[in-house]
Amino acid sequence: MRDSRFFRVAVIGAGAIGQSFAASLFKEHIDEISFLDLRETPGFLTDERYGRLSRIHELVAWRPDVVVECAGHNAVATIVPQVLREGFDVVLSSVGALATPDVRASLSSSARVGGSRLIPIAGAVGGIDALSAAARSGLDVVTYTGRKPPIAWSGTAAAQEVNLDELTSPQVIFAGTAEEAAIKYPANANVAAAVAIHGLGFEKTTVTLIADPTIRLNCHEIYAKSKSGELRISMSNEPSPGNPKTSWLAALSLQQTVVNKVLGVQWVT
Ligand SMILES: NC(=O)c1ccc[n+]([C@@H]2O[C@H](COP(=O)([O-])OP(=O)(O)OC[C@H]3O[C@@H](n4cnc5c(N)ncnc54)[C@H](O)[C@@H]3O)[C@@H](O)[C@H]2O)c1
Repeated sequence: MRDSRFFRVAVIGAGAIGQSFAASLFKEHIDEISFLDLRETPGFLTDERYGRLSRIHELVAWRPDVVVECAGHNAVATIVPQVLREGFDVVLSSVGALATPDVRASLSSSARVGGSRLIPIAGAVGGIDALSAAARSGLDVVTYTGRKPPIAWSGTAAAQEVNLDELTSPQVIFAGTAEEAAIKYPANANVAAAVAIHGLGFEKTTVTLIADPTIRLNCHEIYAKSKSGELRISMSNEPSPGNPKTSWLAALSLQQTVVNKVLGVQWVT
C-alpha cells in the first residue's frame, strides 16, 4: 500500500504517451512531474505545472523517485542506460528496443552497476501475467500474430513488397522469429517484444504480421502452449487520441504499471 510521502517522476518523452501519463496521474498520484524531451518547446512543455529537464545531469540532480521512458528506441539505447547506472529505476514503454541484444546487455549491466530496476510495461497487449506464469511450468510454443489495416504498415518494409493501397484480402507481410520481426519492423516491435521477454525469448517466439483491409483497429493474438495449459489472447485496440500509430492501451498500461507496481497502490473492494 502506498505511504503518504511526496512522489516525483521524471518522464523521458513528452509525446502522446507522456502527455496522457501526466494528465492522468499528476496530483492524484504524483506530486511533481518533469519532462526530458529532445524537441525544443512543444506547446505542452510550456505548461507551468510541469518541470523541464534539458540534460541527463539535470534529471539526475532533480532526484526523481522513478524515471518513465516513453520516447522511443533511441532513448532506450542512449539515455536509459545512463539513468540506470545512476541508480534510478526506469519504467520502459519502448519495449521493442529490448529486441537488440546489445541494448539488452547494456541495460542489464547498467542496472547491475546502479543497483536499479528496469520495469517493462505490458503495453498494447494483455495476458502477459498469465504467459510469464505459464513459463514457469515450461513453454512448448508461443506465437504472436499482429494484424493491422494496410495504412498502419505504410512507411514500413511491407510497402516495398506489397501494394498496400490495393489489398482486398488479408496478406501476410512477415513470418519469422520475434528477433527478425523487430529488425524488419522496428516501429511495430513493442508487442512482439513484450511477448518474447515474458515467454520463450526473441529467437523462439514465432511472429506473423498481416496487413488486413477488412479491419479498422490494430489486433493482437497470442497463443501459448505450456505444461500448465494453453493460453489464447485476442485484443482489438483503439488508437491513442494523441497519436494514431500508438494504441490507447499502451498509454493506459504505463499508467497502470506506475500506479500498481511502482507506487504499490492496491485495489481493495
Ligand atoms: N509497449 C507498447 O505496446 C507501446 C505502444 C506504443 C508505443 N510505444 C513506445 O512508446 C514510445 C512513445 O510513444 P508516443 O505515442 O508517445 O510517441 P510520440 O511520437 O507521440 O512521442 C515521443 C516523444 O519522445 C521524444 N523523443 C524522441 N526521442 C527522444 C530522446 N532520445 N530523448 C528525449 N525525447 C525523445 C519526441 O520528441 C516526442 O515528443 C514509442 O516510441 C514506442 O517506442 C510502446
